[in-house]
Amino acid sequence: MHGDTDRFVLRNARHLAAGYMLGSIRPGDSVVDATMGNGKDTLFLCGLVGEAGHVYAFDVQPEAVERTRERVRDADMEARTTLILAGHETMRRHVPQGVRAVMFNLGWLPGAQHAVTTKTDTTLAAVEAALELICPGGVVTVCIYPGHEEGTKELDALLAYAQGLSVRMYNVAHHRFLNAAKGTPELILIQKNE
Ligand SMILES: C[S@@+](CC[C@H](N)C(=O)[O-])C[C@H]1O[C@@H](n2cnc3c(N)ncnc32)[C@H](O)[C@@H]1O
Repeated sequence: MHGDTDRFVLRNARHLAAGYMLGSIRPGDSVVDATMGNGKDTLFLCGLVGEAGHVYAFDVQPEAVERTRERVRDADMEARTTLILAGHETMRRHVPQGVRAVMFNLGWLPGAQHAVTTKTDTTLAAVEAALELICPGGVVTVCIYPGHEEGTKELDALLAYAQGLSVRMYNVAHHRFLNAAKGTPELILIQKNE
């Protein structure tokens, strides 16, 4: 996730998101992986929250939940997870108030059908829920893939939404890789003020 050394690597939006998670999460924290997929991010978050922390993870595909369960079980970390087969837009029903971080990695499950991709309306509803659920100082990262049609819609809608957030309540940043090909993933980072 972070390259071969523990030094900073400017590689892609996912690496940047991981770096922000590393800087924000401490052992004992509760956090959310809003898009489980193959479970790599869930496992990464499990490592950061430690034995006393908890990771709530969402996906709409049973296959993603199973792959993730296998990955965290193999690492002996299943006990610190709640894997939820439901859309992240239902987050308020499953996650307690005061989580430290929520990580979104939009798009489709790698190696599966592209038809099941995240969608603008539910993504926006979930980001809104995430911003309510994080504690003061908590962060939300959203990795967006504008290389396909729905991803472009998500990017435009999320940028408009994020730009409209109250500066009294949130600080918001947008990372775009300026010399990369069109469609390269971008990152939106939001922190709730203390
Ligand atoms: C790019 S993948 C995530 C990759 C994952 N974080 C990993 O480490 O492998 C995006 C995932 O979002 C899931 N997804 C689509 N719509 C969703 C929704 N409404 N709620 C939660 N997950 C959703 C897809 O099924 C897919 O597995």
